[in-house]
Amino acid sequence: MKMWIALFLAALAGGASAQTCSCSTMKWATCDGNPCECYLLVGEQMKQTLDCDALIPKCFLMKAEMYRAKKGLDRRGLGGKPVETAFVDNDGIYDPECENDGKFKAKQCNNTEECWCVNSAGVRRTDKGDKNLKCEKLVETYWVRLQLTHKPVTGTVDANQLKVAMADAIHKRYDNFKKDMMKEIEYDPEARMIVVDVMKPKGDRMNDLTNMAYYMEKDVKVLPLFKDQEKFEAVVGSQRMEMENILVYYVDEEAPTFTMKNLTGGIIAVIVVVVLAVVAGLLLLFFFKRRQSQKYNKAQQRELDPM
Ligand SMILES: *[C@@H]1O[C@H](CO)[C@@H](O)[C@H](O)[C@H]1NC(C)=O
Repeated sequence: MKMWIALFLAALAGGASAQTCSCSTMKWATCDGNPCECYLLVGEQMKQTLDCDALIPKCFLMKAEMYRAKKGLDRRGLGGKPVETAFVDNDGIYDPECENDGKFKAKQCNNTEECWCVNSAGVRRTDKGDKNLKCEKLVETYWVRLQLTHKPVTGTVDANQLKVAMADAIHKRYDNFKKDMMKEIEYDPEARMIVVDVMKPKGDRMNDLTNMAYYMEKDVKVLPLFKDQEKFEAVVGSQRMEMENILVYYVDEEAPTFTMKNLTGGIIAVIVVVVLAVVAGLLLLFFFKRRQSQKYNKAQQRELDPM
């Protein structure tokens, strides 16, 4: 309680003294009032008052992030892996080897002794190995899920109009990207999340999804790769909607072959503890049973002796 009061006073005193009522250190904050006061939603109806003159404590941020993630996943299962075999790019950029036509070579080593196999999007789909690693062929990515968040807008956005606007924007911006490859566009206004599934038939080697996905990733995450530097936006009525987050899932024609190495240390630790506990239990049971039967044998012996 004391902390809340302290934070509240801090917010009143300095935090929100800027001319415009906003929070420079936290984009998710909601600010209002005179004197200006900012807060962060960290749970259902739970408002955490903020001191926007300083960095927001990590604990509040994590709480808010968990809350937002939960909100984002709540409804209809929008977003997330399209299928169990989908994966994201956890490695980031490397110095790739390319074929003459611009395709990725199946095996990539980033100029080191450590190599791995990639899909046609250049994303690692095997464990890392040494130079002798074999990658038989370049496995095609036939399905890409683009999961975006748009910046806050005032007023409501019609979901159907937004879907049409997204398809138009993608088609126009990315070299007349075929609309029939945009299999499904979903929208969740509450989470401001747009999910675009881009797919081609398995075996299709004419059309490419991965270049468009990369352009879009750069458009949203960094800066446009296009010379004119115009931002990607969907225009719905009089609203221009900019995007602020993107996550890309890849689905290959063949499932990736990552192994247990993917399991985080935490999960492995839990498995080890559980296995040890089970083994200890079994050993105890075994010795207990043996002692029981030894006692029984001795008792039997004694009973027989007098006879
Ligand atoms: C590739 O090498 C560069 C520079 O040596 C490094 O910064 C980068 O993290 C490497 N990428 C991968 C995926 O190993």
